Amino acid sequence: MPSPVAFHGTLIHSVTISEVEILENTLLVVDGNGLIVHLEPGISPESLNSRLASFRLNLSPSSIHHLRHGDFLIPGFIDTHNHAPQWNQRGLGRGLQILDWLDQITFKNESKFADTTHAARVYEKCVSGMLKQGVTTASYYASLHGPATNILADTCLRKGQRALIGKCNMDRNSPSFYIEPSAQDSLDATRDVISHIQSIDPTGATVRPVITPRFAISCTDELLSGLGDLARAHPTLPIQTHFNEAQSEIDATLSLFPQFTNEVDLYKHFNLLTRHTILAHCCHMTPSEITSLQTLDCGIAHCPIANTTVGGGFMAAPIRTFLNAGITKIGLGTDSGGGFSSSILDAMRQAFIVSNAREMMSDGKEKAVSIDEAFYMATWGGAKVCGIGEKVGRFEVGKEFDAILVRTEEDSEPDEHGLGGDVGVMTPVEEGDSVRTVFEKFIMSGDDRNFATVWVKGRQVKG
Ligand code: GUN
Ligand code: FE
Repeated sequence: MPSPVAFHGTLIHSVTISEVEILENTLLVVDGNGLIVHLEPGISPESLNSRLASFRLNLSPSSIHHLRHGDFLIPGFIDTHNHAPQWNQRGLGRGLQILDWLDQITFKNESKFADTTHAARVYEKCVSGMLKQGVTTASYYASLHGPATNILADTCLRKGQRALIGKCNMDRNSPSFYIEPSAQDSLDATRDVISHIQSIDPTGATVRPVITPRFAISCTDELLSGLGDLARAHPTLPIQTHFNEAQSEIDATLSLFPQFTNEVDLYKHFNLLTRHTILAHCCHMTPSEITSLQTLDCGIAHCPIANTTVGGGFMAAPIRTFLNAGITKIGLGTDSGGGFSSSILDAMRQAFIVSNAREMMSDGKEKAVSIDEAFYMATWGGAKVCGIGEKVGRFEVGKEFDAILVRTEEDSEPDEHGLGGDVGVMTPVEEGDSVRTVFEKFIMSGDDRNFATVWVKGRQVKG
């Protein structure tokens, strides 16, 4: 169990969907369970010791972190859509549209996860790599293999990354070397994975299973029906799928399910749209589908990098339209390896780019996403999508401490606790910059070298 720690310095987090708050000279105390037990801005360095003493917090001097000039804490990043087995294929398949990319690159790569030794090796690298990039929570698609999926869950739990872990369901339209023999086999394997994950983490505090029909194209009616029954039997289980990603994918889907005219009706029919559902992409949405998703309270995983590389159609989700409709359960997904980067900072930047394009294409009607909105999606919005918006995503007494210590100033020495050190600084900070200016520079030009330390539930997972 981690020991209690206190931080004094600058904290930055979202207070609303469109507003980031900068708290300076702030004292934040985390107890031995990783819970934030005190948060108080405006404490001068001179008065810190007497303030701490008055709480009788029993903190040893070594557990008090004095954040330096240029340092700030932000909530951990949430990747609402990631394919762990695609870790080694990031960047491959330029020029391919989604269905060809799956056939030519992805299914071959994922089929290798039948080998659990291979799975263990790749998942070790993937989870470490994600933590290094400040991703404290990820919603993962594994491959279709149960044993390898269990290994992914074991790896996240051991390394301390919060995760939703889903074994992909695919019993049709997949190559012979990478397909499940029947709907029944797929359902049985899914139940086994759910049992395994619930046995290693019974309260789901760190890892939880997620029902994961890859997309309707790869699932028979019988399989979708069975997964819907499973969701009915376990009404709090999260569900995730790829949704309205590309026109070619939508056309193929509707030709397989001619009784439906859109994907909302299809997935709803099979009981797969609940308030615990995470829908990746949502690029092509009719007005009535937007209204339905809002009513159903589904979460949206916006994946602008994949949408503009392997998606097909260079079209990403209409985020401004969603926000204007009052939808706030929106997070960012790297969708790596469909996305070439597993950095949430990169996903934020691509969200700016695609939303700028939408602003231009709509003659200014769909305003581009702001820094504050992108930061919300990367943190608190993503937490809401993953069903943990009450637990993490911003700094608040009673929430769990998932955080990144961002260091923006060059410094070759670690601090007094050995944290940080030379981060090989990229953020072009100038003397006299306000905290807000440094923050914006970091968002647009920083990378994981700025992440001196990462914590999940008070446990240090990087640094
Ligand atoms: N649709 C079905 N499978 C996938 C996948 O692995 N990545 C993306 N981006 N879309 C998909
Ligand atoms: Fe994906």
